[in-house]
Amino acid sequence: MEKVTVNKIRELKAGSLKIKMLTAYDHPFAKILDEARVDIVLIGDSLGNVALGYRDTLPVTMQEMIIHTRAVARAVNRALIVADMPFGSFQESEQKALSNAIRLIKAGAEAVKIEGAEYIPAIKKTIKAGIPVMGHIGFTPQAANLIGYRIQGKDKLSAHKLINDAKALQSAGCFALVLEMMPEVLAAKITRALKIPTIGIGAGKKVDGQVLVTNDLLGLYENPPSFVQPKAKLRSIALQAVKEFVRP
Ligand code: KIV
Repeated sequence: MEKVTVNKIRELKAGSLKIKMLTAYDHPFAKILDEARVDIVLIGDSLGNVALGYRDTLPVTMQEMIIHTRAVARAVNRALIVADMPFGSFQESEQKALSNAIRLIKAGAEAVKIEGAEYIPAIKKTIKAGIPVMGHIGFTPQAANLIGYRIQGKDKLSAHKLINDAKALQSAGCFALVLEMMPEVLAAKITRALKIPTIGIGAGKKVDGQVLVTNDLLGLYENPPSFVQPKAKLRSIALQAVKEFVRP
């Protein structure tokens, strides 16, 4: 079993294999993902809406991320473990960003993900301390109140900004970049322009890898996002099993 490292993820840019990243929030699902050999397990701040019942990711705290990162890290042996920096954990100061990134590493993460290209000094400080950072641009859920829940980079100006943001994050030292909800042509253009791998979600196929929320992939919701084709129907299987327990 070869451990997936940040360097291995960087190397996948050049190869023919696509990077596969999925989210996990607890021990049993993290074990399944690792056994299935996903490259990256992400403790996403989607934790908020997926597992904690919040409306969106904004209320997620560092303490919640730490508890779930610990649970996931205890299950994963092979995949690279990346934890999201939740809203409010990095925006206020570079120092705060670094100390919160350190807390996630102490909880078992091997890298952190930071949304947006507005906090490059915080990203640089974190990397300088030896913590790998994954960037995330396009639709960034933590900024949904400002940018709206919609595809980003549809017009020339905003597409141009996203290309520049991607380049700036690469220069800052990010080892990979999530591209969320943007036109396929734009994601392809960014992918070609970068030396680091891009991992898309709702950004088409012309990227270096794909990431999905595991609950969407497994059909745990009645209405998954339009870009997801669920591979199982876990919600109806679970519902049926519980019904059989209740009324055998
Ligand atoms: O929080 C999350 O799950 C994410 C992925 C969807 C990329 O950021």
